[in-house]
Amino acid sequence: MRFAPSLLVLSVPLAHAIPQLSQDSASVSAEYANDDTFEKAVLDVTNLYRRQHNASQLAWNESLVEYAKDWSEDCEFKHSGGPSGENLASGYPNVTASIEAWGNERDDYDFDKGEFASKTGHFTQLVWRNTSTVGCARTECNGSQKGGKGDAPGWYVVCEYYPTGNVIGQFTDNVLEQLPDDKVPSASDAPTTTGVPSATATPQGMASGTKTNMVTLFGAVLLGALWV
Ligand SMILES: *[C@@H]1O[C@H](CO)[C@@H](O)[C@H](O)[C@H]1NC(C)=O
Ligand SMILES: *[C@@H]1O[C@H](CO)[C@@H](O)[C@H](O)[C@H]1NC(C)=O
Ligand SMILES: *[C@@H]1O[C@H](CO)[C@@H](O)[C@H](O)[C@H]1NC(C)=O
Ligand SMILES: *[C@@H]1O[C@H](CO)[C@@H](O)[C@H](O)[C@H]1NC(C)=O
Ligand SMILES: *[C@@H]1O[C@H](CO)[C@@H](O)[C@H](O)[C@H]1NC(C)=O
Repeated sequence: MRFAPSLLVLSVPLAHAIPQLSQDSASVSAEYANDDTFEKAVLDVTNLYRRQHNASQLAWNESLVEYAKDWSEDCEFKHSGGPSGENLASGYPNVTASIEAWGNERDDYDFDKGEFASKTGHFTQLVWRNTSTVGCARTECNGSQKGGKGDAPGWYVVCEYYPTGNVIGQFTDNVLEQLPDDKVPSASDAPTTTGVPSATATPQGMASGTKTNMVTLFGAVLLGALWV
């Protein structure tokens, strides 16, 4: 499967992705200050959403971390255009709140239709069943403020997902409804590596030889790419 990046830029409102900066910006969350705490917080909150949607738990992927770090350090609040799935958030008081902003888009997602939408794209990537690894980085950009860098306000969180999600035509297989609480496995019981079987994971468009859209969403801008 080859991947060809292309550039289809649509604008999406900024407001939901960039919250008001915390008044108490002097105290830095340990989730941002400490690498281990950051990683644990990402995995804990991401994998809770994933277990709730019957997806395997993600493993930490250092090569995705390196990629995310390179991108977050530029402090540009836009998609990197890279090969993996990507979610961005900036200006949240901690990484848990950043990821919850993505996960809570599920309230607007239509599980029966199973379609990509810009307002639910972070959520669908987060719980996408065929994704098995994640790597994230954070940079205190303080964008658009005195002494800051770039346009990403406060702390900029960049998460990369591999294999990538949000593949058009595969939403109903990959984004499942939320399980009742008593059916959600504990972190120690849930699998960490299974995804959907590859037979059902083949993009419909590939089988017929036509192009299939693959869309990844990032904070404020929507980029598209094509599977060829
Ligand atoms: C970012 O801004 C906050 C509050 O305005 C400040 O405490 C912090 O030192 C700044 N960080 C950097 C890296 O400039
Ligand atoms: C989760 O998905 C698997 C298939 O991958 C299925 O067998 C199982 O019944 C599902 N679990 C629940 C609680 O629906
Ligand atoms: C980690 O991500 C890279 C892409 O950056 C991918 O090539 C590699 O297979 C991933 N590792 C695992 C264990 O999936
Ligand atoms: C993260 O920030 C949110 C919103 O301010 C706050 O409610 C929550 O307690 C914080 N969580 C942690 C772990 O710091
Ligand atoms: C699902 O993940 C596997 C790797 O685990 C990858 O080879 C395959 O291309 C993915 N399927 C799709 C449609 O992205």
